[in-house]
Amino acid sequence: MNIPDTIAWDPEKECIRYIDQTQLPGHLTMVECRTVQRLETAITRLEVRGAPALGVAGAYGVALAAVTCKKRGLAPFLAAVRRQGNLLTATRPTAINLSWGVNRVLTAMEQRAASVSEAKQIALAEAQDVAHEDEACCQAIGTYGAALLPERCTVLTHCNAGALACKAWGTALGVIRSAVRQGKDLKVIACETRPLLQGARLTAWELTQDGIDVTVITDSMGAHLMRGGIIDLVIVGADRITPDAVFNKIGTYMHAVCARHHGLPFYVAAPLSTFDADHVENDVIIEERPRDEVARCGTCITVPEGVKILNPAFDATPMDLVTAIITEQGVLRPPLDMKALSRYRTTR
Ligand code: MRU
Repeated sequence: MNIPDTIAWDPEKECIRYIDQTQLPGHLTMVECRTVQRLETAITRLEVRGAPALGVAGAYGVALAAVTCKKRGLAPFLAAVRRQGNLLTATRPTAINLSWGVNRVLTAMEQRAASVSEAKQIALAEAQDVAHEDEACCQAIGTYGAALLPERCTVLTHCNAGALACKAWGTALGVIRSAVRQGKDLKVIACETRPLLQGARLTAWELTQDGIDVTVITDSMGAHLMRGGIIDLVIVGADRITPDAVFNKIGTYMHAVCARHHGLPFYVAAPLSTFDADHVENDVIIEERPRDEVARCGTCITVPEGVKILNPAFDATPMDLVTAIITEQGVLRPPLDMKALSRYRTTR
């Protein structure tokens, strides 16, 4: 791969280093993040985004909170770090990986640390494990997913479920990368993904860096290309998977409906950290983003002042529209046995 890791811990400077995704494709800017407050801003502004990358950011965020915490006794130390973790979790409510990453590091410290210095070491080690596992999960998802793809095909993807949305490699784009590495002849159609253009800016950029054939379309062109026989299958990532639905970037549901209508496979690629066995579709909060994301494009005003705007960041695709979910443990065909999955997820 020809791009740096999306997010990593810098052991010398004791800070988080990440790619500022708001600057792409114009500039590849690395940011050094030294406070949890700065990380909250980075997540809210989508400098760091994509469900698995948010899981890693949450884990590193708790490690940063621990490393920088000045409290002396273990109980006040753990309470202070948990407060910071809770603030981080609240920044984006839909992608479950964020709270999963935060809670995994908090729980490791709370269950195993006998002193403040031990808690700091445990937090950092656990966060590094989360990051390394994310990369390994993406490689495994890539291998399982690549086996599903024909030798030659055109794949539609929505938003960015690539290296930039994970520590590296990607989920949906990881499948594409793995298939290309195996010598398969793939073309990618990347939907631009209004309003923040993750497909046009990020998916197109990272595939181009790796020399993978990519064409950008507007979000409403997918059905037309499916009807014309241009698209063979759809692969997307996920922000949360409940027993009855897949939550992903707004517009995903539309592609799933169109894929079903045209008899095309609709695949979801996601690690088990994205699964939520404890809730169903109606329980999940869909993040509503600021009006200016829709009402402006750069400095240009695109909607008259005072006109009402809706800006849900995600939608839910009912499970019966999903052909298969590609995980690091293999390919799951709905209906899902969530009890078996949740046992795996919590004991790992
Ligand atoms: O708002 P974003 O850019 O964080 O939304 C990201 C998505 O919807 C991705 O498709 C999803 O997180 C899967 S990433 C592997």
